[in-house]
Amino acid sequence: MPMRAAPSLPFLRPCIIFSPFFFLIILVIYQVDDFASQTKTVVGHNLNPTPWHLFPPNTFTEKTRYARVSKIIQCSYLTCRRRSITPTTTKIPEWHTRQSSNTVGKCPMFFTRIDHDLQPWVRSGISLSSVMEAQKFAAFRVVIVGGKLYVDFFYACVQSRAMFTVWGLLQLLRRYPGTVPDVDLMFDCMDKPTISREEHGSKPLPLFRYCTTMDHFDIPFPDWSFWGWPEIDIGPWDEEFIGIKQGSQVLNWTQKLSYAYWKGNPDVQSPVRVDLLQCNNSDIIGAQIMRQDWVEEAKNGFKESKLSNQCNHRYKIYAEGYAWSVSLKYILSCGSLALIIAPQYEEFFNHGLISMTNYWPISRLDICPSIKFAVSWGNTHHSEAKAIGKSGQDLMESMSMARVYDYMYHLITEYSKLLRFKPEPPPSAHEICEESLLCFADPTQRQCLERSTTYPSPTPPCTL
Ligand SMILES: *[C@@H]1O[C@H](CO)[C@@H](O)[C@H](O)[C@H]1NC(C)=O
Ligand SMILES: *[C@@H]1O[C@H](CO)[C@@H](O)[C@H](O)[C@H]1NC(C)=O
Repeated sequence: MPMRAAPSLPFLRPCIIFSPFFFLIILVIYQVDDFASQTKTVVGHNLNPTPWHLFPPNTFTEKTRYARVSKIIQCSYLTCRRRSITPTTTKIPEWHTRQSSNTVGKCPMFFTRIDHDLQPWVRSGISLSSVMEAQKFAAFRVVIVGGKLYVDFFYACVQSRAMFTVWGLLQLLRRYPGTVPDVDLMFDCMDKPTISREEHGSKPLPLFRYCTTMDHFDIPFPDWSFWGWPEIDIGPWDEEFIGIKQGSQVLNWTQKLSYAYWKGNPDVQSPVRVDLLQCNNSDIIGAQIMRQDWVEEAKNGFKESKLSNQCNHRYKIYAEGYAWSVSLKYILSCGSLALIIAPQYEEFFNHGLISMTNYWPISRLDICPSIKFAVSWGNTHHSEAKAIGKSGQDLMESMSMARVYDYMYHLITEYSKLLRFKPEPPPSAHEICEESLLCFADPTQRQCLERSTTYPSPTPPCTL
């Protein structure tokens, strides 16, 4: 875009126009502009939406082109570099270098899936060529080398998913400084798993995303909402859990409404949710199914949708959306009896769910009768129903952010052991540090990110 400087030319005196200094400035402006129009950022500058899942383009807060260019240059090129002038001595925690007594103990049961998810590569290892092949399905590539994070963006992610996911990785590095191994992995931020076991059986491609199914090789990783989802006013997970747990204690079990409750968006191409609408009858079926209207609720400052106000029912229903739904952890946190409609998609913690111990399974084919049966059983077996609900809440309590970081730590560590090459950031990747990511955040996002900042762990991760 060198022409942008042209209109001002007639107003300059010839001696300035022809001075070498002037051409230098033109060259710099040209280069800066060119640089910025090629720089791909965590908020989606110069990126198209993932072709496999289209969504409305991200809107940028900068009003003018000039503001956008200077923001991109500032955040992408100047921020982390400035920081590295004053080297932060990353002190390796003592527990890593000596045989410390582990005070955290064994990881919760849901960690068992790390082994399971990495099984396809145990014998073959993970070659650079399979990582590169997985790029076809990825929105970005994450490379960690020497405790620094580099990200190469290929496609934009919907809303602030990329920002919050990358933030989560930065927080992992902050939590376990100097101990996260070098790694190179492909990540897709959209909903549905893509590496089907049938199609890719002969050469499984390693791809991280937020969920998987039994029929896919995709490796589940904690989703962005653990650090917050500002678009719908959901805060960091630890904060939300405390709020929901308090909210769940406002009414005692007998006071809670004696039917099952679901609130969400049924218009997400989810057959389960469409079927669930048929069960909306609190007297006959024992279920109330409410439609979430995010646009309306945003106008009221989300007062109607506060998660902590949604624990007044003895039964809470979980129904998958387009793929998994982030709502599962909030539903389980209520301490109500969670009625989980047989899910197809799994998050990283699904292995912790035990039927009749911490939730009640609902048949996918027979949703309304199955809910009806569960509710009438619960209303005649108060203490048993309450105990299952409590056990679901305890499971969520055990999945604190500390354990979420441990999960990320172990998954990345085990994955890195399988790499058959030395990770190196590709030339197109950018170093991302906390400051450079915050630099792109709008005020609401920034608030959420800052609230979810972690601190170096005083103890080693739980043991696998
Ligand atoms: C629940 O709360 C109500 C009203 O405060 C009280 O009458 C009842 O005894 C409580 N039930 C239990 C089981 O604590
Ligand atoms: C379900 O029924 C309740 C009460 O009758 C009603 O307010 C609500 O709008 C219904 N839900 C849907 C999705 O139609």
